[in-house]
Amino acid sequence: MEKINIPNHVAIIVDGNGRWAKKQGKNRSYGHKKGFERLEEIIKYASSKNIKVLSLYVFSTENFKRSKEEVDYLMNLFEKNLTKFSDECSKENMKIFFSGRKKPLNDKIIKMMSEIEEKTKENTGTIINFCLNYGGRAEIVDAVKKIANNLTLEQINNLDENEFKKYLYHELPDIDFMIRTSGEQRLSNFLLWQNSYAEFYFPEVQFPDFTKEEFDKAILEYQKRNRRFGGIVYENKNN
Ligand code: FPP
Repeated sequence: MEKINIPNHVAIIVDGNGRWAKKQGKNRSYGHKKGFERLEEIIKYASSKNIKVLSLYVFSTENFKRSKEEVDYLMNLFEKNLTKFSDECSKENMKIFFSGRKKPLNDKIIKMMSEIEEKTKENTGTIINFCLNYGGRAEIVDAVKKIANNLTLEQINNLDENEFKKYLYHELPDIDFMIRTSGEQRLSNFLLWQNSYAEFYFPEVQFPDFTKEEFDKAILEYQKRNRRFGGIVYENKNN
C-alpha cells in the first residue's frame, strides 16, 4: 500500500456478520465471534499504517431491538474481551475511546469502559473509538443538553461549529473515509456530525471477510478520490 495520502480518520460500520454466518450454515453468534476476530486484526493493521483515528460501529442504540439471545451474546462478547484486547492495544500505544450512551448497558461494561479509557488516556498512538450503544442523533441531543446545563445564554449565542464539537462524546477530527461492509449503502445514524465531508466506500464483502487486503483495497480507492469540501479544490496527489 502506498504511504502517501493515508486518511487521518477512518470509520467502519461493521456489517454483515449475520449474513456471513448464515452462508456458512451457522448461527448469527458465530458470525459475531468471527467478526470480532477480524476486528482485532483490522485494528492492529490500521494502527501499523499510522491511521490516527479508527472509529468502529460495534453496537447501535437500535441494536437493542434485536432478540434477547443476540443482544446477550454481544454483551457477553464485549464483557469477555474488551479489557484483554484493550490491554493488547495499549501495549502498542493505542488510546481507546468509547462513544455512546451508558444506559442501558450493564454496570460491569460501563465500569470496564471507563477503566479502559483511563488506562489508555496517556497513549499517543492510534485512537480507537468504539461506538457502543451509539446513535448519531442521540450524540447531538446529548451535546445540546451538556451545553444547556453548562453555558450561559451569552456563551450559547456565541457558539460556532468548532466550539459545539467540544460537547460531542469525544472531540475528534472529521472522518475522511467511511467504510460500510456487506454492500449496504446507508449511514444508519453513524457519526452524523463527523461524517459531514467523508468519502464513502461500500465493499460487497461481509465484515468477517474484510481482510487486510480488503482494507488496502479500500485505502487505494480513497487515494483516487478528489475531495473538494464544498468548493475548495483539493489536489489529490495520485491524480
Ligand atoms: C453487524 O452485523 C454487526 C454487529 C451488530 C455487531 C458487531 C460487533 C462485533 C464484531 C463485536 C465487537 C467486539 C468487541 C469486543 C469490540 P449484522 O449482525 O447486522 O449482520 P447482518 O446485517 O448480516 O445481519
